[in-house]
Amino acid sequence: MAKYRIAWLPGDGIGVEVLEAAKIVLDRISLDAEYLHGDIGWDFWCREGDAFPARTIELLRNVDAAMFGAITSKPAKAAEAELAPELKGKGLSYRSPIVRMRQLFDLYICLRPCKAYPGNPLNYKEGLDLVVFRENTEDLYAGVEFSPVPEALATALASLSKPFGAFKDLAPGECAISCKINTRKGSERIVRAAFDFARKFGRKKVTLVHKANVVRASDGLFLETARQVAKDYPEIATDEANIDAMTMWLLKNPFNYDVLVAPNLYGDIVSDLCAQMVGGLGFGCSGNIGDKLAVFEPTHGSAPKHAGLYKANPIATILAAKMMLDWLGETAKATALEQATAAVIAEGNVRTYDMGGSSTTLEMAQAIAAKL
Ligand code: NAI
Ligand code: MG
Repeated sequence: MAKYRIAWLPGDGIGVEVLEAAKIVLDRISLDAEYLHGDIGWDFWCREGDAFPARTIELLRNVDAAMFGAITSKPAKAAEAELAPELKGKGLSYRSPIVRMRQLFDLYICLRPCKAYPGNPLNYKEGLDLVVFRENTEDLYAGVEFSPVPEALATALASLSKPFGAFKDLAPGECAISCKINTRKGSERIVRAAFDFARKFGRKKVTLVHKANVVRASDGLFLETARQVAKDYPEIATDEANIDAMTMWLLKNPFNYDVLVAPNLYGDIVSDLCAQMVGGLGFGCSGNIGDKLAVFEPTHGSAPKHAGLYKANPIATILAAKMMLDWLGETAKATALEQATAAVIAEGNVRTYDMGGSSTTLEMAQAIAAKL
């Protein structure tokens, strides 16, 4: 029996291609693993009315980790239109599998390392090495939303004194509400994860990203909790920044930052910025990590316009596989894989289109495998 059981979830579009590439390097590195295919994505929504079928959820309950490619999502009306005829009009509604997965398995850490590998022509600046910890289960992504707003909620809001009075004459259909829910537990565990990481890897500073001066209740709780956690790590410097200012300072003085930790939405935003500074979507890798399960993925989507062309850059996914090896405790293999990837980037002979070259997805994977 293999040492690890890994769920393998290619999904849609280039998700299939980049996972095929990741498999080439994992096979080369001889990870003692059994890879178990899981159905996920648009086809399953169209044919079965569920993009994340129960059998795939069951599979995830019985594995050590998972690799996920990407999925296609479409707005509600377009999703309904593509359902198989016998499923139409049954009140099925599309929900993002990855958001469901994060909540179902309590994958509360979204870890996004953003490192500028030397010689990558897409680097904003050489030497960048940022790590983003994004809370992954709550905040504005909690999924508690109202559109139209139920009568009872509208009445309750109208009855509040200022500033809600401004909304008192709105008809229910003229207003929508998305709840930003942050808990002490959710804030504490993501901030602790960031500081534990900083301690383990000798990082110097953790920046708490928020907007507590305006979003006083929910970000206030996040910030207050984070400051409390920071006291347990006196050897690590703590810094605070508003999300809006953060995006400016990151571009201006990127070397002032090290580890960043943020609630879900701000973490999503700031991690895309950081990923772009080290090469963009072809380099953005991500781990969705809980106490029992972790799911690793590139941050990009299914890129329908490139699907089937094998031109997407697989490095984001290969670096996600490297993160999985680290999480499994296969540190030597993880380091070897990262070094091989860095070597191919530095040599510059094999480059996908986004890097200015014409190598294919699988040629990039083969070049990295050849260095192992
Ligand atoms: P996308 O990330 O799929 O692609 C945007 C563009 O970025 C592509 O057209 C391509 O030019 C470039 N790109 C993406 N990945 C690349 C790679 N590996 N190498 C080189 N270039 C790359 O975002 P888009 O087009 O907004 O969304 C397409 C679909 O993917 C939508 O249905 C969306 O809902 C879904 N999506 C899924 C995600 C996931 O599965 N985690 C995340 C983001 C979007
Ligand atoms: Mg994003």
